[in-house]
Amino acid sequence: MSVQRVCVADFEEEAKKVLPKAVYDYYRSGADEQTTLADNVAAFNRYAHTHTLNSCFCLSGTKKSLVWHRDLTSSQLLAMQIRNQSTVFRCCLVQGKLPLQCLCVSSGEDAAQAVIYGVDGILVSNHGARQLDGVPATLDVLEEVVQAVQGRCDVYMDGGVRRGTDVLKALALGAKAVFIGRPVLWGLACQGEQGVTEILELLKDELRLAMALSGCRSVSEVSRSLVRRADFTSRM
Ligand SMILES: Cc1cc2nc3c(=O)[nH]c(=O)nc-3n(C[C@H](O)[C@H](O)[C@H](O)COP(=O)(O)O)c2cc1C
Repeated sequence: MSVQRVCVADFEEEAKKVLPKAVYDYYRSGADEQTTLADNVAAFNRYAHTHTLNSCFCLSGTKKSLVWHRDLTSSQLLAMQIRNQSTVFRCCLVQGKLPLQCLCVSSGEDAAQAVIYGVDGILVSNHGARQLDGVPATLDVLEEVVQAVQGRCDVYMDGGVRRGTDVLKALALGAKAVFIGRPVLWGLACQGEQGVTEILELLKDELRLAMALSGCRSVSEVSRSLVRRADFTSRM
């Protein structure tokens, strides 16, 4: 009987069943108390969407424009294999070209310094929360890095991206693209290459829907005003 997987969590649940326990535990786990691991995911809930359309129409000036057909053509879906200490897969939704020299940073002071050294791109990453527990969630430092860089190079992020709405939030906070780690492993475990394709298509579909409901017809229309800190919203 074929299983219907409708979200990344479904892939993880199935992967857990098919992988040897030690392998699944190795993939899913983080450092020490795994505080940062949980926070990478939770950070996305600290941002709320500010725009929600009741239908697939939005008002732009006096004209009604259809936003159901989102233009993702400025985004290319790429599967990249990045080799560092070990071989890991990172997949990303990326606009434009691949970064030639991409440096991982986790703060503004680092990003500004990296720009001075002439990097082509910056990846905000805490290595999937597998190194130093207690460091901030990557989404929480993304905006600081974007501000420090001031448009001098592309900024990417990874860590905890599990939904199309997460992708939209990261783009709104200034990421040019997001990378995913564990979801790719869950896709591979479930159905090899086909499973990875399914994961990427799922996230693309979710992103398209989130964009439509936010009134965005293209990735270039995703702006900072689309999200606000949820704690700020709750005080209004
Ligand atoms: C099993 C596993 C091994 C990893 N090994 C490395 C590594 O050697 N070096 C590194 O920079 N990141 C490593 N990462 C982190 C990923 O490259 C990526 O940053 C992270 O998985 C993204 O977060 P996500 O899994 O929440 O999507 C690893 C991740 C996993 C799941």
